[in-house]
Amino acid sequence: NRNLYHEKHREQIHFSPSSGWMNDPNGMVYYEGEYHLFYQHYPKDNKWGPMHWGHAVSKDMIHWNNLPIALYPDSLGYIFSGSAVIDWKNTSGFAKNNRPAMVAIFTYHNAAEEKKGKKDYQSQGIAYSNDKGRTWTKFKANPVIKNPGISDFRDPKMSWDNIHNQWILALAVQDHTEFWTSKNLKNWEHASDFGKEWGAHGGVWECPDFFPLKVDGTKETKWILLKSINPGAINGGSGTQYFVGDFDGKNFILDEKFKPFVRNNEAVWLDYGRDNYAGVTWSDIPAKDGRRLFIGWMSNWQYAQNVPTAEWRSTSTLPRELVLKSTEAGYRLFTNPVKETALLKEKGDVHKLLTLQEQTLEGALDLTPKPGFTPTLSELNLSFELPEASQNTKFRVELSNDKGESYSVGYDAAANHFFSDRTQSGDLSFSDRFAAKVHPAPRTSRNKTIEMRLFFDVASSELFADKGETVITDIFFPTTDFTHLKLIAEGGKVILKKGSVQQLKSIWK
Ligand code: FRU
Repeated sequence: NRNLYHEKHREQIHFSPSSGWMNDPNGMVYYEGEYHLFYQHYPKDNKWGPMHWGHAVSKDMIHWNNLPIALYPDSLGYIFSGSAVIDWKNTSGFAKNNRPAMVAIFTYHNAAEEKKGKKDYQSQGIAYSNDKGRTWTKFKANPVIKNPGISDFRDPKMSWDNIHNQWILALAVQDHTEFWTSKNLKNWEHASDFGKEWGAHGGVWECPDFFPLKVDGTKETKWILLKSINPGAINGGSGTQYFVGDFDGKNFILDEKFKPFVRNNEAVWLDYGRDNYAGVTWSDIPAKDGRRLFIGWMSNWQYAQNVPTAEWRSTSTLPRELVLKSTEAGYRLFTNPVKETALLKEKGDVHKLLTLQEQTLEGALDLTPKPGFTPTLSELNLSFELPEASQNTKFRVELSNDKGESYSVGYDAAANHFFSDRTQSGDLSFSDRFAAKVHPAPRTSRNKTIEMRLFFDVASSELFADKGETVITDIFFPTTDFTHLKLIAEGGKVILKKGSVQQLKSIWK
């Protein structure tokens, strides 16, 4: 398997399937020291097809072991996106030998019925495992949630709600989210609907996630609804918006201060890049850890099936932690890479390419010269300020190769936004929508010092700006790997307060 992980464009610090097609992450659950990642998978081709749940496990969310396919399509349909939990109280009766069952809920997609023009081709089924997710049994009486005659009725995300002592489930239904509740994971009741009149509606609502989260630094808890939408995302195609509010056990009630931001088709976005879709969070993270851990699919339905990889298609984002903060604008999610990304650091001072001292930048600073350094396997941490007279500066970090191809990500002072530019990033032939423009991401922090934390891989860039307040995730396909790394200040100066460039190591070695 491992030899396979060195093909052209194969990501070295991100999960991807060894072969075949992947889209959404599914069923993420933590159990007995293992982070499980299931995913939408078609093993027989590098394009979307009859969906299976692929499976991998990790002890740190960074290094992954591939396991056999967990769920295969059956007579009820393909296995679409869904979620998994540990049924600690054995509410379902699926436990065996005193071991609680791992229970998955997913959408059955009946392609034959869809072809016939029927509307009720999606329903929800469950399956359980008594051996740490290695083998699965589908429930005899599936489906557990029948289709009431609605197309687009999918992607159940369930969790134990210990505030109201019940199982809850968020379901994507056309242009809104339905909430369902259950006592035993088998019988489900429709509790409420949310969203028709809130948020972005340029496409179908998919892959919800719904969970409580402490407001950082307080004792207050709010409920978060993540909602992927395709198309209709802020920078085109697929993207993820979110809502903050309260939950009374049945209804999701939008926070008053959040409302103005999600009125009239406006939305609050988790990520402004083109390539973070259908992301959801892990269930059953132990309370003593307490983090809300997220992973997304690093692609976009606009071009996902045509990106220039052959043996496999698509990669996951880095695992991220979501933190809820109270800001001047109200509650906002901050996203940062999990602390386990420290395991990616190549050890020893030689691998810290540089620690940059405070200096004024004007024009280009080439960070490439060190032999043996691979820019597309690196982490950058930059803090900078703009001098008074430099309110038109564009500052960017540029990856490039000797063929004149490049990817830039940076900050435009006049517009007060971060941006990413892959218009010259190499192979663009597979889609005219891949790199038609430069993409902005508004800066919301008012701090004088601007911080950019970047992770570069062979075919992707992830920017966490201002400690995770603004995020940009993008993929790219240079015809030969990017080998140069530059910091560039144009139209003015930048005072670099602090900076470091760290070599990372492949997880597939
Ligand atoms: C999102 C999605 C889901 C669906 C799955 C099918 O990317 O369209 O709504 O369950 O992919 O593979």
